[in-house]
Amino acid sequence: MTDTQQWWRHAVGYQIYPQSFFDSNHDGVGDLPGVQAKINYLKDLGVDFVWLASFYPSGHVDSGYDVTDYCGVDPQFGTLADFEELVAALHAAGIKVVIDLALNHTSAQHPWFRAARQSRTNPYHDYYIWQPSDGQTPPNNWQSVFGDSAWQPNPATHEAYLHSFATAQPDLNWENPRVQQEMVQIIQWWADRHVDGFRLDGVTHLKKRADFADVTDPRTGYYQNLAGVAPYLAALRPVLTANHLLTIGEAGGVDMTTAKQWLDPTTGFFDLLLEFDHVHFWEMAEPKLPVAALRANLTKWQVALEGHGWSALFIENHDLPRAVSYYGDAVDYPRRSAQALGMWYMLMKGTPFIYQGQELGLTNADFTRIDQYRDLDSCNYYHRQLATGAPVANTLKQLAAKSRDNARTPIPWTGKAYGGFSTTTPWIDMGPDVAQRNVERESHDPLSVLTFYQQLIRVKQSVPALQTGRYELIDTYDDQLYVYRRTYNGDNWLVMVNMSSQIATTQEFDLTASELILTNLLVDSDSDAQQIQPWEARLYHLRQLE
Ligand code: NOJ
Repeated sequence: MTDTQQWWRHAVGYQIYPQSFFDSNHDGVGDLPGVQAKINYLKDLGVDFVWLASFYPSGHVDSGYDVTDYCGVDPQFGTLADFEELVAALHAAGIKVVIDLALNHTSAQHPWFRAARQSRTNPYHDYYIWQPSDGQTPPNNWQSVFGDSAWQPNPATHEAYLHSFATAQPDLNWENPRVQQEMVQIIQWWADRHVDGFRLDGVTHLKKRADFADVTDPRTGYYQNLAGVAPYLAALRPVLTANHLLTIGEAGGVDMTTAKQWLDPTTGFFDLLLEFDHVHFWEMAEPKLPVAALRANLTKWQVALEGHGWSALFIENHDLPRAVSYYGDAVDYPRRSAQALGMWYMLMKGTPFIYQGQELGLTNADFTRIDQYRDLDSCNYYHRQLATGAPVANTLKQLAAKSRDNARTPIPWTGKAYGGFSTTTPWIDMGPDVAQRNVERESHDPLSVLTFYQQLIRVKQSVPALQTGRYELIDTYDDQLYVYRRTYNGDNWLVMVNMSSQIATTQEFDLTASELILTNLLVDSDSDAQQIQPWEARLYHLRQLE
């Protein structure tokens, strides 16, 4: 593959969650013309491609990931003509377009499923996964990702269908070559509309245990890391390569051996994999981020993929809380920790993804009532917890820390009503501190998180060593510092981040002959070579190896 075809190796991506980006038609919901209205913002930020989260017509059960029509745009986001106009406008601005594709399931409202559930002889019946059912007892102990049994009775056929996510998201049967062919055609249909790539949703879910037996881990044991996904992915590969599409696999729980195979540039299926090994550390981040464990984990992946594949770098998306709240210090160091986290992950080896609002240092939503939540997973969790007798206050506290809605609040463009996102009440409440953290204010502040992200993007794009250079951890054997070097053709760069809210002391790095290129410490603060301030981040261009 030529370097031009591998444009994504030198690119910075930006994920847009259309519901919450910008509302152009004043109905409280963001939309595709709203994205178009903000192209100048994306240009100023400097990103090379956008990934648009699911915008297909849907049953609105799982925020667009329950698709009712794979070749359309949900009316709440606009029309197909709006989409085509948006793609053309983004391309004119030099920004490529990646779209989402939910491969594992459709909506229960999708015409395929409506037909499939009518009778066992319906031509679409075999598009889905069925087991005989008496309507009372689930066929086995498999559970859905969103809780409860993964089976839903279908009285018309005396069966139950599998849904590894919500009840309204029946799993497709990838054993069926017709399902594979449908997806091939859908990919071609969008390629004909000039998209540049796909983020393929939930690829680790596609293969299920064929024996339908009970499993030890009912949440993941029936689909995760089973042999047999490869033929399904191989069926998609020709249409993806023929159209030179960037392929990004969402691969929750993927093991490293599989990841290496799937990413192999000649025999693999994906250019980039979104694997989530590192984000689970946030669940252990109380009372303090386990920096040493995080260092070991990320280094393991960076080293394993060196020469074998390319990493996707990310700390946020629409399914995670805000990084400054889970990894950083949103109370004492909201600005500095947001910036430090940005430098820490973006300058590793791989293609960085920024999730909308991350570049503003947005924090968690701070919701205090269940009626503020919109996410199905969060609402289900709340009701399940209460049913087991868990106290309301405690459950709300857990949601405030981990709900997916934390990252789904609207983008504050200004400090005015509804953050200038809409002129009417948005579909979900705004996050906190809109007056402090918004695009208008941050774009005029040379010390803002937004300005720092702009600098990070420029440096990533302009320094070959920060793109292609080898990653080497410099282990500091502590629970505060994350230090690594990037090396390319004798050109060496050092990233040093204090990932704690306490001062850290470095080992004896001799940085005297090196140039400090970027830092998030205020210029008038004391910068000391040996003392690293809380959440201080430094990028050095090393003159020579120490
Ligand atoms: C992954 C998507 O990112 C998430 O939002 C969705 O809930 C699941 N797939 C199921 O569709």
